[in-house]
Amino acid sequence: MTAAPRSWLFVPADSEKKVAKALASDADAIIFDLEDSVVPAQKAAARDILKGLTASEVEGGPQWWVRVNPLGSEHLKQDLELLGRSAIHGIVLPKAEGGWDVVELAHRTGSIPIHAIVTETAASLFGLLSYRTPQSPLAAMSWGAEDLSAALGAASKHDSDGALSFTYRMARSLCLAGAVAAGVQPVDGVFTDFKDDQGLRAEAEAAAREGFTGKLAIHPAQVATINAAFTPSADAVKHAKAIVAAFAAQPDAGVLSVDGKMVDRPHLVQARSILERSK
Ligand code: COA
Ligand code: MG
Repeated sequence: MTAAPRSWLFVPADSEKKVAKALASDADAIIFDLEDSVVPAQKAAARDILKGLTASEVEGGPQWWVRVNPLGSEHLKQDLELLGRSAIHGIVLPKAEGGWDVVELAHRTGSIPIHAIVTETAASLFGLLSYRTPQSPLAAMSWGAEDLSAALGAASKHDSDGALSFTYRMARSLCLAGAVAAGVQPVDGVFTDFKDDQGLRAEAEAAAREGFTGKLAIHPAQVATINAAFTPSADAVKHAKAIVAAFAAQPDAGVLSVDGKMVDRPHLVQARSILERSK
């Protein structure tokens, strides 16, 4: 798995049974969680389970990421001691409030890729452009509504009609634009109702249309739906190839017509990105 992961499957690292299931799933990336899904009394046991995993360096297997506890947490130092292991592809940093948090973590972890969860505190909403720093190991940004709603003292994340409230839709859009501005992968947040596959599909397809290239998962049953939603369709690939071919045939043209529609530079950029992701 070398391209940006489509599905990022969370697994509480203190559950040997779930860890085994996650490893056997088709997720592009597994996030072994040491933070919110693991109570303090279980954190040491969770680290021991991760130490006991032997790397399946199978070509095409899922990337291994570890969600550590947040900066300032008493647990972080011990979490980071796990990271010397080559099998671990990257670190997921929860409750990040700005690019400076990534810089601070990277001072302790070097060049290992970092996926920051960027909308979990009230202050975090004001820092979404700050991830755009040169020579950062930042690789992905995702957003979270659960911790944000708790931080804001919200009674619900939803409007009376059931739709996600404006505050969370704003957080989601700021994460998308912030990640694109930083040149890293924008990853959509979790869909917690893991029995509602239709709802998940609609949300994942909407995210893909908007520009997200992957989504967090909390249950193995969500992986196939997410992978499908973030795989460019055959039609989209065909159209992208036609756009790239049209510009290749007329390298001096700024604007062209493909299938009866105007295409210019932004369409070419988008077409290249679709072809990259379809590999
Ligand atoms: N990774 C791996 N295996 C998982 C899993 C996950 N994220 N979620 C569920 N499973 C396993 C279950 O252990 C169960 O295994 P079994 O058939 O051998 O008993 C099977 O998949 C079916 O699970 P199900 O009964 O549908 O769900 P559950 O009630 O056991 O678990 C959750 C529901 C939400 C507790 C569970 O999905 C979970 O722990 N998700 C991840 C939570 C997390 O990491 N949160 C932090 C990020 S927001
Ligand atoms: Mg959390």
